[in-house]
Amino acid sequence: MDSGYLANSSTTSSGRYTLTAQALHWITAALMFVILPIAWVMVNMPKSAQFRGLLFTLHKSVGLTIVVLVAVRIAWRAKHPVPPLEVGLARWAKVAAGGSHWVLYVVLVGMPISGYLLDAAGGYSIFYFGLFSIPLLPNSPALSSAATWVHVAVGQWLVYALIFLHVAASIWHISVRRDGVLDRMLPKQEPGRG
Ligand code: HEM
Ligand code: HEM
Repeated sequence: MDSGYLANSSTTSSGRYTLTAQALHWITAALMFVILPIAWVMVNMPKSAQFRGLLFTLHKSVGLTIVVLVAVRIAWRAKHPVPPLEVGLARWAKVAAGGSHWVLYVVLVGMPISGYLLDAAGGYSIFYFGLFSIPLLPNSPALSSAATWVHVAVGQWLVYALIFLHVAASIWHISVRRDGVLDRMLPKQEPGRG
Protein backbone atom coordinates (compact mmCIF):
# COMPACT_ATOMS: atom_id res chain seq x y z
CA MET A 1 0.00 0.00 0.00
CA ASP A 2 2.94 2.30 0.69
CA SER A 3 4.55 2.21 -2.72
CA GLY A 4 2.74 5.07 -4.54
CA TYR A 5 3.09 7.92 -2.12
CA LEU A 6 6.47 6.92 -0.67
CA ALA A 7 8.15 7.58 -3.96
CA ASN A 8 9.61 11.06 -4.15
CA SER A 9 9.13 11.93 -0.48
CA SER A 10 11.93 14.37 -0.30
CA THR A 11 11.08 16.09 2.98
CA THR A 12 10.39 12.98 5.02
CA SER A 13 11.56 9.39 4.86
CA SER A 14 8.17 7.98 5.76
CA GLY A 15 5.67 9.97 3.67
CA ARG A 16 3.70 10.54 6.86
CA TYR A 17 2.95 13.56 8.95
CA THR A 18 5.16 13.63 12.05
CA LEU A 19 3.77 11.96 15.17
CA THR A 20 3.34 15.41 16.75
CA ALA A 21 1.32 16.65 13.75
CA GLN A 22 -0.75 13.45 13.84
CA ALA A 23 -1.46 13.79 17.57
CA LEU A 24 -2.44 17.45 17.17
CA HIS A 25 -4.70 16.55 14.23
CA TRP A 26 -6.58 13.78 16.04
CA ILE A 27 -6.91 15.64 19.35
CA THR A 28 -8.27 18.70 17.51
CA ALA A 29 -10.63 16.54 15.44
CA ALA A 30 -11.92 14.82 18.61
CA LEU A 31 -12.46 18.21 20.30
CA MET A 32 -14.39 19.42 17.25
CA PHE A 33 -16.68 16.40 17.54
CA VAL A 34 -17.20 17.32 21.21
CA ILE A 35 -17.66 21.10 20.88
CA LEU A 36 -20.30 20.95 18.14
CA PRO A 37 -22.88 18.75 19.92
CA ILE A 38 -22.34 20.84 23.07
CA ALA A 39 -23.13 23.97 21.01
CA TRP A 40 -26.29 22.48 19.54
CA VAL A 41 -27.59 21.41 22.94
CA MET A 42 -26.68 24.60 24.82
CA VAL A 43 -28.26 27.05 22.35
CA ASN A 44 -31.48 25.04 22.29
CA MET A 45 -31.89 24.74 26.08
CA PRO A 46 -34.36 26.92 27.95
CA LYS A 47 -32.50 29.80 29.63
CA SER A 48 -33.47 28.44 33.05
CA ALA A 49 -32.16 24.89 32.39
CA GLN A 50 -29.89 23.50 35.08
CA PHE A 51 -26.81 22.63 33.03
CA ARG A 52 -27.00 25.44 30.49
CA GLY A 53 -24.26 27.50 32.18
CA LEU A 54 -22.03 24.44 32.50
CA LEU A 55 -22.40 23.62 28.80
CA PHE A 56 -21.58 27.22 27.80
CA THR A 57 -18.47 27.09 30.00
CA LEU A 58 -17.45 23.75 28.45
CA HIS A 59 -18.08 25.07 24.93
CA LYS A 60 -15.97 28.17 25.49
CA SER A 61 -13.20 26.26 27.26
CA VAL A 62 -12.94 23.55 24.60
CA GLY A 63 -12.96 26.27 21.91
CA LEU A 64 -10.11 28.16 23.54
CA THR A 65 -8.19 24.88 23.93
CA ILE A 66 -8.66 24.26 20.20
CA VAL A 67 -7.20 27.63 19.22
CA VAL A 68 -4.11 27.04 21.40
CA LEU A 69 -3.60 23.57 19.89
CA VAL A 70 -4.05 24.96 16.38
CA ALA A 71 -1.51 27.74 17.04
CA VAL A 72 1.01 25.10 18.17
CA ARG A 73 0.11 23.02 15.13
CA ILE A 74 0.63 25.86 12.66
CA ALA A 75 3.99 26.70 14.27
CA TRP A 76 4.99 23.02 14.11
CA ARG A 77 3.88 22.83 10.47
CA ALA A 78 6.07 25.80 9.58
CA LYS A 79 9.13 23.86 10.77
CA HIS A 80 8.01 20.39 9.60
CA PRO A 81 6.67 20.63 6.05
CA VAL A 82 3.85 18.36 4.97
CA PRO A 83 5.10 15.23 3.18
CA PRO A 84 4.50 15.48 -0.57
CA LEU A 85 1.25 13.92 -1.70
CA GLU A 86 2.46 11.37 -4.24
CA VAL A 87 -0.59 9.19 -4.68
CA GLY A 88 -1.26 9.79 -8.36
CA LEU A 89 -3.87 12.48 -7.76
CA ALA A 90 -4.89 14.88 -10.52
CA ARG A 91 -3.60 18.43 -10.10
CA TRP A 92 -7.09 19.78 -9.30
CA ALA A 93 -7.47 17.22 -6.51
CA LYS A 94 -4.14 18.20 -4.96
CA VAL A 95 -5.06 21.88 -5.16
CA ALA A 96 -8.47 21.11 -3.63
CA ALA A 97 -6.84 19.13 -0.80
CA GLY A 98 -4.30 21.87 -0.04
CA GLY A 99 -6.87 24.67 -0.33
CA SER A 100 -9.43 22.92 1.85
CA HIS A 101 -6.79 22.28 4.53
CA TRP A 102 -5.97 25.98 4.63
CA VAL A 103 -9.63 26.95 4.86
CA LEU A 104 -9.97 24.43 7.71
CA TYR A 105 -7.13 26.22 9.50
CA VAL A 106 -8.84 29.60 8.91
CA VAL A 107 -12.02 28.21 10.46
CA LEU A 108 -10.16 26.54 13.34
CA VAL A 109 -8.69 29.93 14.24
CA GLY A 110 -11.66 32.12 13.20
CA MET A 111 -14.31 30.28 15.22
CA PRO A 112 -12.58 30.56 18.61
CA ILE A 113 -11.58 34.18 17.95
CA SER A 114 -15.11 35.20 16.93
CA GLY A 115 -16.46 33.22 19.92
CA TYR A 116 -14.09 35.04 22.24
CA LEU A 117 -14.98 38.44 20.75
CA LEU A 118 -18.73 37.91 20.92
CA ASP A 119 -18.43 37.10 24.63
CA ALA A 120 -15.60 39.43 25.62
CA ALA A 121 -17.08 42.52 23.97
CA GLY A 122 -20.60 41.57 25.04
CA GLY A 123 -19.77 41.44 28.75
CA TYR A 124 -20.26 37.65 29.05
CA SER A 125 -17.81 35.93 31.39
CA ILE A 126 -15.44 33.21 30.20
CA PHE A 127 -14.38 30.89 33.02
CA TYR A 128 -11.83 28.42 31.57
CA PHE A 129 -12.95 24.94 32.76
CA GLY A 130 -13.94 26.63 36.03
CA LEU A 131 -10.26 27.27 36.79
CA PHE A 132 -9.68 30.94 35.98
CA SER A 133 -11.34 33.85 34.20
CA ILE A 134 -10.22 34.97 30.76
CA PRO A 135 -9.87 38.79 30.55
CA LEU A 136 -12.73 40.50 28.73
CA LEU A 137 -12.74 43.60 26.49
CA PRO A 138 -14.41 46.99 26.96
CA ASN A 139 -18.11 46.62 26.25
CA SER A 140 -18.91 47.03 22.54
CA PRO A 141 -22.33 45.84 21.37
CA ALA A 142 -21.32 46.51 17.74
CA LEU A 143 -18.21 44.31 17.96
CA SER A 144 -20.11 41.64 19.88
CA SER A 145 -22.90 41.44 17.32
CA ALA A 146 -20.47 41.46 14.37
CA ALA A 147 -18.58 38.57 16.00
CA THR A 148 -21.88 36.75 16.69
CA TRP A 149 -22.72 37.06 12.99
CA VAL A 150 -19.33 35.62 12.01
CA HIS A 151 -19.59 32.80 14.58
CA VAL A 152 -23.23 31.82 14.23
CA ALA A 153 -24.46 32.96 10.81
CA VAL A 154 -21.35 32.21 8.72
CA GLY A 155 -18.70 30.30 10.64
CA GLN A 156 -20.74 27.38 11.84
CA TRP A 157 -21.97 26.57 8.31
CA LEU A 158 -18.44 26.75 6.96
CA VAL A 159 -17.42 24.34 9.72
CA TYR A 160 -20.15 21.86 8.81
CA ALA A 161 -19.43 22.09 5.08
CA LEU A 162 -15.67 21.72 5.47
CA ILE A 163 -15.83 18.83 7.93
CA PHE A 164 -18.35 17.08 5.68
CA LEU A 165 -16.10 17.52 2.62
CA HIS A 166 -12.97 16.56 4.56
CA VAL A 167 -14.45 13.35 5.97
CA ALA A 168 -16.09 12.50 2.62
CA ALA A 169 -12.71 12.98 0.89
CA SER A 170 -11.07 10.71 3.49
CA ILE A 171 -13.70 8.03 2.88
CA TRP A 172 -13.13 8.37 -0.88
CA HIS A 173 -9.39 7.81 -0.37
CA ILE A 174 -9.96 4.91 2.02
CA SER A 175 -12.65 2.97 0.22
CA VAL A 176 -12.64 4.00 -3.44
CA ARG A 177 -9.02 4.89 -4.25
CA ARG A 178 -7.41 2.82 -1.48
CA ASP A 179 -4.32 4.95 -1.93
CA GLY A 180 -3.04 5.09 1.65
CA VAL A 181 -3.75 8.78 2.26
CA LEU A 182 -5.19 7.99 5.70
CA ASP A 183 -1.90 6.24 6.58
CA ARG A 184 -0.17 9.61 6.25
CA MET A 185 -2.07 10.72 9.35
CA LEU A 186 -1.50 7.46 11.29
CA PRO A 187 1.60 6.05 13.04
CA LYS A 188 3.61 3.52 11.04
CA GLN A 189 2.25 0.00 11.56
CA GLU A 190 4.43 -3.08 11.97
CA PRO A 191 3.64 -5.67 9.25
CA GLY A 192 1.03 -8.13 10.55
CA ARG A 193 1.96 -11.78 11.15
CA GLY A 194 -1.32 -13.37 10.11
C1 HEM B 1 -13.52 25.75 17.13
C2 HEM B 1 -14.17 26.45 18.04
C3 HEM B 1 -15.66 26.70 18.06
C4 HEM B 1 -16.66 26.16 17.30
C5 HEM B 1 -16.55 25.14 16.18
C6 HEM B 1 -17.91 26.75 17.75
C7 HEM B 1 -19.15 26.46 17.23
C8 HEM B 1 -20.34 27.00 17.68
C9 HEM B 1 -21.64 26.65 17.19
C10 HEM B 1 -21.92 25.60 16.11
C11 HEM B 1 -22.55 27.39 17.86
C12 HEM B 1 -24.08 27.29 17.74
C13 HEM B 1 -24.63 28.37 16.90
C14 HEM B 1 -26.14 28.31 16.85
O1 HEM B 1 -26.68 27.32 16.38
O2 HEM B 1 -26.75 29.27 17.31
C15 HEM B 1 -21.83 28.23 18.78
C16 HEM B 1 -22.41 29.14 19.63
C17 HEM B 1 -21.71 29.87 20.57
N1 HEM B 1 -20.34 29.86 20.78
FE1 HEM B 1 -19.00 28.77 19.78
N2 HEM B 1 -17.63 27.63 18.76
C18 HEM B 1 -16.28 27.63 18.99
C19 HEM B 1 -15.59 28.36 19.93
C20 HEM B 1 -16.16 29.24 20.83
C21 HEM B 1 -15.44 30.03 21.81
C22 HEM B 1 -13.92 29.97 22.04
C23 HEM B 1 -16.36 30.78 22.47
C24 HEM B 1 -16.15 31.78 23.59
C25 HEM B 1 -15.04 31.95 24.27
C26 HEM B 1 -17.66 30.47 21.90
C27 HEM B 1 -18.84 31.03 22.32
C28 HEM B 1 -20.07 30.73 21.81
C29 HEM B 1 -21.32 31.34 22.28
C30 HEM B 1 -21.44 32.36 23.40
C31 HEM B 1 -22.34 30.82 21.49
C32 HEM B 1 -23.84 31.15 21.55
C33 HEM B 1 -24.03 32.27 20.56
C34 HEM B 1 -25.47 32.73 20.49
O3 HEM B 1 -26.37 31.88 20.41
O4 HEM B 1 -25.69 33.95 20.50
N3 HEM B 1 -17.49 29.54 20.90
N4 HEM B 1 -20.48 27.97 18.64
C1 HEM C 1 -13.01 11.17 10.94
C2 HEM C 1 -12.48 12.36 10.84
C3 HEM C 1 -11.23 12.73 10.09
C4 HEM C 1 -10.43 12.01 9.24
C5 HEM C 1 -10.59 10.56 8.79
C6 HEM C 1 -9.35 12.88 8.81
C7 HEM C 1 -8.33 12.52 7.98
C8 HEM C 1 -7.30 13.34 7.57
C9 HEM C 1 -6.19 12.93 6.74
C10 HEM C 1 -6.00 11.53 6.16
C11 HEM C 1 -5.41 14.01 6.53
C12 HEM C 1 -4.12 14.07 5.70
C13 HEM C 1 -4.43 14.48 4.30
C14 HEM C 1 -3.18 14.49 3.44
O1 HEM C 1 -2.36 13.60 3.56
O2 HEM C 1 -3.01 15.40 2.63
C15 HEM C 1 -6.02 15.13 7.24
C16 HEM C 1 -5.50 16.40 7.27
C17 HEM C 1 -6.11 17.45 7.91
N1 HEM C 1 -7.24 17.39 8.69
FE1 HEM C 1 -8.37 15.77 9.06
N2 HEM C 1 -9.53 14.11 9.38
C18 HEM C 1 -10.66 14.06 10.16
C19 HEM C 1 -11.21 15.08 10.90
C20 HEM C 1 -10.75 16.37 10.88
C21 HEM C 1 -11.40 17.49 11.55
C22 HEM C 1 -12.70 17.38 12.39
C23 HEM C 1 -10.65 18.58 11.29
C24 HEM C 1 -10.88 20.01 11.73
C25 HEM C 1 -12.02 20.58 11.75
C26 HEM C 1 -9.53 18.18 10.44
C27 HEM C 1 -8.57 19.02 9.96
C28 HEM C 1 -7.52 18.66 9.15
C29 HEM C 1 -6.53 19.57 8.63
C30 HEM C 1 -6.46 21.09 8.89
C31 HEM C 1 -5.64 18.82 7.86
C32 HEM C 1 -4.41 19.34 7.11
C33 HEM C 1 -3.17 18.98 7.90
C34 HEM C 1 -1.95 19.74 7.38
O3 HEM C 1 -1.64 19.63 6.21
O4 HEM C 1 -1.32 20.44 8.20
N3 HEM C 1 -9.62 16.84 10.23
N4 HEM C 1 -7.15 14.69 7.86
